[in-house]
Amino acid sequence: MSKWPDWLPLKAALTDSSVYGAPQISNVVMLNTNENPFPLPAQVVDQISEAVRQTAVDLNRYPDRDAIALRTALAKYISKDVNGISIDNIWAANGSNEILQQLFLAYASGVCLGFTPSYSVHPLIAKITGANWVAAALDNNFNLNIDLLASLINKENPSLIFITTPNNPTGGVVKYELLEKIASLVVGRKTLLVIDEAYAEFSTEKSAVNLISKYPQVVVVRTMSKAFAFAGARLGYLVADKTVVDGLKVVRLPYHLSSLTQAAALVALENAKIMQSEITEIVKSRQVVKDGLEKLGLKVIDSGANFLFFTGFKGSSEQLWQQLLDQQLLVRDVGYAGYLRVSIGTESENQKFLQSIKLILG
Ligand SMILES: Cc1ncc(COP(=O)(O)O)c(C=O)c1O
Repeated sequence: MSKWPDWLPLKAALTDSSVYGAPQISNVVMLNTNENPFPLPAQVVDQISEAVRQTAVDLNRYPDRDAIALRTALAKYISKDVNGISIDNIWAANGSNEILQQLFLAYASGVCLGFTPSYSVHPLIAKITGANWVAAALDNNFNLNIDLLASLINKENPSLIFITTPNNPTGGVVKYELLEKIASLVVGRKTLLVIDEAYAEFSTEKSAVNLISKYPQVVVVRTMSKAFAFAGARLGYLVADKTVVDGLKVVRLPYHLSSLTQAAALVALENAKIMQSEITEIVKSRQVVKDGLEKLGLKVIDSGANFLFFTGFKGSSEQLWQQLLDQQLLVRDVGYAGYLRVSIGTESENQKFLQSIKLILG
């Protein structure tokens, strides 16, 4: 029986859906949503407060619809990785999830192709926007098989292909050279290759933004939620050929990005170095946590992100997830049997995690 009343005209494709979202529980150590555990530096908090105060005076007016100042600053930030990027190549929205939604709204028709396990919001937005999602399995080591992908591209003729690198939940990184091979597969097709680089700054791999000038069908999705420790502000962005950005402007809601968000993100970008000063610490801690888990006999997938995917424990993921929660530690059960994902926290949070799991596994 449907949980929805008969009078509710919920779309048929959505009646079996549940609300997406990791649990938000207070008074626990939150290692479940890959946030950056470090609060903003005090001097940036002060500058953001001042920028918000100044912006508040003009809140009777709609925001800059095209977020010119912010996109200019994002272009400058991305220019450290690649030459030739200007404001025309950048789009910004409320988190990279909204960027992903806009990509589906503008460009999804027929089949959209992705991998599993990967970021579950890609198929979710496909469903919400009425796209037909087809997922290929990663291999036993969670690597991408290009032959499988090539045959699926030929068979399905997808409008959008999604690759997440570093991948969520596995942490695995797709080599730049492989991405270039995949980009060459879509040349001559009516297809965009979307590279979700939400965790790029935690990896040493060359960014796919370097492919855009040669392969205009490559679209790179980024976020300030992770490396910038700015998840609460909701600022995601896209780097792509100008025409891809122009297409997104057709589907974006008017004034989608508030003046307050634009002002705060601009300050964060001006302070990019300070905002990202904890990346080295997080990458170091990632190794400490990996070593700690391996010492307990667990298998941990190599990660280029701010989280680890691990297996090799007795009992189910649900059991270990609950046992950790009983110790006030919230990790993520992504529904992949036998595995759990843990975000890298502060040093004391990581130690608490390692001590608790040691205790539980005996
Ligand atoms: C791979 C990936 N892409 C996109 C996002 C969305 O990030 P946001 O909407 O905060 O920018 C996440 C969040 O966890 C993610 O893991």
